[in-house]
Amino acid sequence: MKYGFFDNDNREYVITRPDVPAPWTNYLGTEKFCTVISHNAGGYSFYNSPEYNRVTKFRPNASFDRPGHYVYLRDDETGDYWSISWQPVAKSLDEASYEIRHGLSYSTFKCEYNGITATKTLFVPKGEDAEVWDVVIKNTDNKPRTISAFSFVEFSFSHIQSDNQNHQMSLYSAGTEYRNGVIEYDLYYNTNDFEGFYYLASTFDPDSYDGQRDSFLGLYRDEANPIAVEQGQCSNSAQTCYNHCGSLHKQFVIQPGEEVRFAYILGMGKGNGEKLRAKYQDLANLDADFAGIKAHWDERCNKFQVKSPNEGLDTMINAWTLYQAETCVVWSRFASFIEVGGRTGLGYRDTAQDAISVPHANPSMTRKRLVDLLRGQVKAGYGLHLFDPDWFDPEKADVVPSKSPTVVPTPSDEDKIHGIEDTCSDDHLWLVPTICKYVMETGEESFFDEVIPYADGGNASVYDHMKAALDFSAEYVGNTGICKGLRADWNDCLNLGGGESSMVSFLHYWALQEFIDLAKHLGKTEDVDKYSTMAEGVRQACETHLWDDEGGWYIRGLTKNGDKIGTAQQTEGKIHLESNTLAVLSGAVSQERGERAMDSVDEHLYSPYGLHLNSPSFATPNDDIGFVTRVYQGVKENGAIFSHPNPWAWVAEAKLGRGNQAMKFYDSLNPYNQNDMIETRIAEPYSYVQFIMGRDHQDHGRANHPWLTGTSGWAYFSVTNFILGVRTGFEGLTVDPCIPTAWPSFDVTRQWRGATYNITVQNPNNVSKGVHSITVNGEAIEGAIPVQAEGSINDIIVILG
Ligand code: NOJ
Repeated sequence: MKYGFFDNDNREYVITRPDVPAPWTNYLGTEKFCTVISHNAGGYSFYNSPEYNRVTKFRPNASFDRPGHYVYLRDDETGDYWSISWQPVAKSLDEASYEIRHGLSYSTFKCEYNGITATKTLFVPKGEDAEVWDVVIKNTDNKPRTISAFSFVEFSFSHIQSDNQNHQMSLYSAGTEYRNGVIEYDLYYNTNDFEGFYYLASTFDPDSYDGQRDSFLGLYRDEANPIAVEQGQCSNSAQTCYNHCGSLHKQFVIQPGEEVRFAYILGMGKGNGEKLRAKYQDLANLDADFAGIKAHWDERCNKFQVKSPNEGLDTMINAWTLYQAETCVVWSRFASFIEVGGRTGLGYRDTAQDAISVPHANPSMTRKRLVDLLRGQVKAGYGLHLFDPDWFDPEKADVVPSKSPTVVPTPSDEDKIHGIEDTCSDDHLWLVPTICKYVMETGEESFFDEVIPYADGGNASVYDHMKAALDFSAEYVGNTGICKGLRADWNDCLNLGGGESSMVSFLHYWALQEFIDLAKHLGKTEDVDKYSTMAEGVRQACETHLWDDEGGWYIRGLTKNGDKIGTAQQTEGKIHLESNTLAVLSGAVSQERGERAMDSVDEHLYSPYGLHLNSPSFATPNDDIGFVTRVYQGVKENGAIFSHPNPWAWVAEAKLGRGNQAMKFYDSLNPYNQNDMIETRIAEPYSYVQFIMGRDHQDHGRANHPWLTGTSGWAYFSVTNFILGVRTGFEGLTVDPCIPTAWPSFDVTRQWRGATYNITVQNPNNVSKGVHSITVNGEAIEGAIPVQAEGSINDIIVILG
């Protein structure tokens, strides 16, 4: 069963049936103002932090996706009314037709009903702290029609998300006023004219308005049947206290074949409502700002475009996977329909991994995130697991308390900096490859010398921060020399404490390889020697203690009592994805063991929806292993198809040279391929999800937690760098693909350091891997393609075989 299709020319996903089995969401906003919006126009807005600068309300877990950012239309001759999005009025799909286009940072809702075609496009213009609703109502009837339009948003009780649950104060802490086509919403304890000051404006002069939610909805009604819309008139309510909304109403008489166009603007900041109301009176400004959003994404997507025999791969890599990855880099993990703003800040490992995927598309944001993370690292080398980057930003230091002037105290240093007992053993290690990739992309080698403070005092160059990370993992090892598990490793639910994590040792090895290459490049021979010796020690410890010959795979680790986790002898948690994929990805293991390990992954963990994290699921609580043993079977970290490490398997297979296997695993997880089986998948087909129910759960194949997952960054990085094999280096661009043998060729356009590389890869002998020859603008070269002149356009032909 399917509900829509990919429109690749417009980089849109088009939903043709709105009765989708879950809200399918999109993200509006590229800077500070963000809205998470569903295909039904349900959702909420916030500024910078979904926890502290909440603009509109959302009721998580309530029936689907209420409230939202709605426009109602009313036929003033008959009293019949509907909404441009299917919900909340929900006309019968036999009478009305709806189409929703989720694009990159905009969503368009279209409704055709009873001789009226209406569209509503929501986006956040660049440079504005506001969401604009571009509304067009067209009369397709053969007689004049009198149509009223009403907006509706429900303002957040406070700029603090949790206050939405707290009626005692919140009911009496805010008020609306109406002024010149603008409903202004102010919090009485507000100390500035920006945060906590919201508005809803229209480009028309309203006929009536409501700032009081209950006046608009009416008693014992909801968004489906507001009394104001039913009666064709708001009651001009605006006052302090109770629940607040933004409804502006206008009646239009529209001649046959004619249309009216106007905008609503939802934003923040005193005076901005009137300013933007004036700006968008000129519809050319609306068009220009929308074009700005299109240009924003064109520029990013065009840095890497592929044309291959796999249409699903092209669709996802050319738009959706990059879009999702950047959404994670910018908005982190705390705003979706699942995460509804309970926390602020960055998860160390999440951001350190997300950032590896977008240095080409968004170098400045990547750099900012790296600096955030380096400031969140302590001298001992580990990263603060969850932190607010503002805590350590010298420019923000005196601004942080204003986020919430009266309610949230600024944390003390002890509260900000946790000790070893709360440290995750992997967090800091992801930084090393990500920093290298950033510099390979940009060529900004001076970044390694930039001095950045540690969270707990003292300064070091970026290069020395990287060494601190590697040294920490060398120090915190167990009896066998394998890294300790500590509070958790990548797997939040594997809580080994003093036990040992093979995943972390393999990650340590990978980070060491990246660092050794860097030290060689910088001519730091002492470091090359020191860290090569360290790496060899890690490799030997892994090969000696982690290989399970009976099973033919690498175990997941050891408990603090020395018991092995993940052996052929066990009946629960017998084989794990992370240890085996990272073993191969890191380069620590031989081709022979690597192939055996990945064959075991295929045999025990593969499903048509992706690779399981472990199998069989744990069924017996065991606190030496961790919370994972208490999670329901087939769910999340316990035997689900946990998406994030799946791309590690694609890299592993690419490194082994097995392109058919890499593509088999890629195709199984690719949401594009599940577009026609939504009855099983449920979630959006354009977004990777955190996990898919595993075979030990009755909903096997159901996808959960879309958008905010490290899967997107890793999927993008794995496909572009290892399957398609186009990799930046410090000195040149490598093209070393690993593709299915059946692919005759593919093309990539890559922009790098100001030059364009039009790459054609030909595969005349149906191999997966191995470069026979490369020409650059007709001249044969060996090895990496040298950096070409800025502004140049270069033809690269790569023949495999
Ligand atoms: C989601 C968390 O955001 C991420 O940090 C973690 O690695 C995975 N869950 C696996 O536990």
